[in-house]
Amino acid sequence: MPESVESVTLEACLDQTAYPIRIGSGILLEEVPALLERLTADRKVAIACDAFFLESTAQLLSDRLRKAGFTVFLHPMTGGKSNKTLEELVHLYDLMERNEFARDSSLIAVGGGVIGDTAGFAASTFLRGIHLIQVPTTVTSQIDSAIGGKVGINFNKTINAIGTYYHPRGVFIDLDFLQELPERDYIAGLAEIIKCAVICDAAFFEYLQKNAERILDRDPSALLHIYRRTIEIKLDHVRGDVQEFQQKRIRLNYGHTIGHAIELATAGREELYRHGEGVSLGMVAASFLAERLFKRDGKLRALHEAILKRYGLPIRVDLKRVGASRDEFIQRCLQHVRKDKKRQAMHVRFILPEAIGRTVVNDAVPAERIREAVAMLCEAPAP
Ligand SMILES: NC(=O)c1ccc[n+]([C@@H]2O[C@H](COP(=O)([O-])OP(=O)(O)OC[C@H]3O[C@@H](n4cnc5c(N)ncnc54)[C@H](O)[C@@H]3O)[C@@H](O)[C@H]2O)c1
Repeated sequence: MPESVESVTLEACLDQTAYPIRIGSGILLEEVPALLERLTADRKVAIACDAFFLESTAQLLSDRLRKAGFTVFLHPMTGGKSNKTLEELVHLYDLMERNEFARDSSLIAVGGGVIGDTAGFAASTFLRGIHLIQVPTTVTSQIDSAIGGKVGINFNKTINAIGTYYHPRGVFIDLDFLQELPERDYIAGLAEIIKCAVICDAAFFEYLQKNAERILDRDPSALLHIYRRTIEIKLDHVRGDVQEFQQKRIRLNYGHTIGHAIELATAGREELYRHGEGVSLGMVAASFLAERLFKRDGKLRALHEAILKRYGLPIRVDLKRVGASRDEFIQRCLQHVRKDKKRQAMHVRFILPEAIGRTVVNDAVPAERIREAVAMLCEAPAP
């Protein structure tokens, strides 16, 4: 059957599993129950949902599943990075254990990356793995966290400290979710799309430059196009390197070394920088490092700054909002970069752009250069 403009199916073939990634509009209520019917004879399903959808999507999905003979347990969770915790995980284990879930039972995650990562980890570890279905609802989760199998939680001050790799049995990306997504979350998610273009597809980068207005207006056909291309790029990098042992998947971490450090350096009760905003700043820093190390002119960084600014993403750190002096902030970021280094066998690993569409992995960026890059993020941009 030819695919309509409103929906496409991509096949994720990773490790020894293959599963469909459906992208479309209004696809959940028919297709999720149908997948479950094909998947399992067990009738127990938990829906871990962002509380935002408790009365709407989660309720509708649960009604459909009940009508089809499933026993459904609705479990509301709260989004936001500070909720990707052991406590939330324990609540989920508790629900599944109390209700005698079996290995053939299923868990559906309806929400952003926080819900998908936490529920995904619960599904991967409960009874050593039950069926997982991802229904991502933010841009970040739709094009990134629900794809590629990384699941986990934060622990103390470490992002994604406890986790594993676990593939869902299906991913349902419903573009209708974006209607109510706050502007800030929508834009933060676009950073990962721009990142994918920078690492390997100059033509896609050009598309993003030319179609910014339509994309910012959430035009469904532009969205379908950029989602499809971003997910294809993600799958290409993950295939054959799910656990990042080659130098393939790691390229998706472009912008993440300094981006993560900024997220951590500003972590607190209030989420000062969304994940995508950290990645935006991290990409500017990486392009600065490439400029210095490869002795290039400032064109590549200017291209980064222009597109990120066009999409409303940050290209400099707002020290007033952070509530720290320049030196304090630099110090905090460098501490987090150094922590990362210990975890990566004494390397601070950077993905650096040689051009739009081409990146290299570099394990030998001098500490002084990293300091300069973070300091640059604290200065006003060129007019
Ligand atoms: N597993 C991976 O490979 C991977 C990749 C990228 C990011 N992540 C993780 O993803 C998390 C960030 O994801 P996120 O930005 O989706 O965070 P999130 O789940 O906290 O969602 C952001 C906010 O949007 C709200 N929300 C969700 N969907 C909505 C909708 N459709 N309409 C209105 N509001 C909605 C949530 O309640 C929350 O307040 C981080 O923890 C990050 O580490 C994981």
